[in-house]
Amino acid sequence: MNSRKGTARALDIPARSCYNANVKSHLMAGNYPAERKRNHMDRIYLDNAATTAVAPAVLESMLPYFTEIYGNPSSVHAEGRGARKAIENARRQTAAAIGAASPQEIYFTGGGSESDNWAIKGAAFANRKKGNHIITTAVEHHAVLHTCAWLEKQGFRVTYLPVDGEGRVTAQQVADAICDDTILITVMTANNEIGTLMPIAEIGEIARSRKILFHTDAVQAVGAIPLNVQELKVDMLSMSAHKFHGPKGVGALYVRKGIRLDPLIHGGAQERGQRAGTENLPGIVGLGAAITLATENLTGKAARIAALRDRLMDGILSRIPDVRVNGPREGRLPNNCNVSVRYIEGESMLLRLDLAGISASSGSACTSGSLDPSHVLLAIGLPHEVAHGSLRFTLSEATTEAEIDTVLDTLPGIVADLRAMSVLNANTTTVSDETFVCPRK
Ligand SMILES: Cc1ncc(COP(=O)(O)O)c(C=O)c1O
Repeated sequence: MNSRKGTARALDIPARSCYNANVKSHLMAGNYPAERKRNHMDRIYLDNAATTAVAPAVLESMLPYFTEIYGNPSSVHAEGRGARKAIENARRQTAAAIGAASPQEIYFTGGGSESDNWAIKGAAFANRKKGNHIITTAVEHHAVLHTCAWLEKQGFRVTYLPVDGEGRVTAQQVADAICDDTILITVMTANNEIGTLMPIAEIGEIARSRKILFHTDAVQAVGAIPLNVQELKVDMLSMSAHKFHGPKGVGALYVRKGIRLDPLIHGGAQERGQRAGTENLPGIVGLGAAITLATENLTGKAARIAALRDRLMDGILSRIPDVRVNGPREGRLPNNCNVSVRYIEGESMLLRLDLAGISASSGSACTSGSLDPSHVLLAIGLPHEVAHGSLRFTLSEATTEAEIDTVLDTLPGIVADLRAMSVLNANTTTVSDETFVCPRK
């Protein structure tokens, strides 16, 4: 019996649920182009901003908490005490990794979206009597943007700061937007689509001096660049374990001592009464192990990944005409390479790359099922058709030079094929040549 297939069927595991219908039917029809097909183990995974593989040591650290030390951390018996001890250890590990003053400043959540929701809604409602104005940016993740939009319906006022052509806001823009009734500033540490790093320490300085709460969504930055919450002067920081080789569905919110948030989830007294619900014990243990591993020797690891990222970026620019890099060359996440390829659709390139065994993304994973262009690419000033032609490659510690070279050998042929079929071409497109790094040949 084919037990793996049988089990997958029994558990109702979807074949590849993130694929849109077109992609799926294309694959099923067996329309495989010439690119080399790979089996699962042989694939090149360059979508680490969407999610990462759980590190073997992280998995190892979690396993006993499913079957051996499985007590409810609120229980007083030995099993419960063992579980509680593990959670408090993970809290210490997490606090140490981001330079928090105390482990009590770390609250475990169900992931990055929950951390963002809680920080923003919790701060807004706890400070409603002081004011109702929130400052954010146009390029935040939807976990922030949709939360802000929801708060607008509850009577809050939100300023969405525009960004420059590389996706950055300045601290001065933030300072200029502050009003007497501003209660919260929320600006992401690093952009999930184009990797732009925001001037968090400068904004933190302004927020602290004006006594306004400052939250940063650091979901893409934790484990990618060194972070210290005290140096950055942030009051709240969101993270998500699955972005740094930990498990999915678990995250944390750093909340500086003395700051009061309204709880988002009501019920039991877990997380000091701030976040009800029996703790995700193995997940929290995994988060603690993952953040410890990810932040060890981070400067060296980031430099190695950035060198590979530059090899990829420079290789794409030199081998494919009419390509532009989205986001800055300096001041970006070490693992992020985002490019727009003129005249063709990112989705078509993704499909062809996938068939060649290469996983990338044309935006954030949450939006890639939609045909709307990315709000981030539009915010940096790209016309719709150029935004549609974007590809995001995000590397990890496991990425090798050979993998990057395979992508560089594969992508130009895919682009040439798709351009040959494209209805968009030099005669129909309205994009100005200055948008592109390489002049059209
Ligand atoms: C910047 C950013 N914030 C928040 C999130 C949401 O995190 P999670 O998937 O853990 O809910 C993501 C996920 O892609 C992200 O990239």
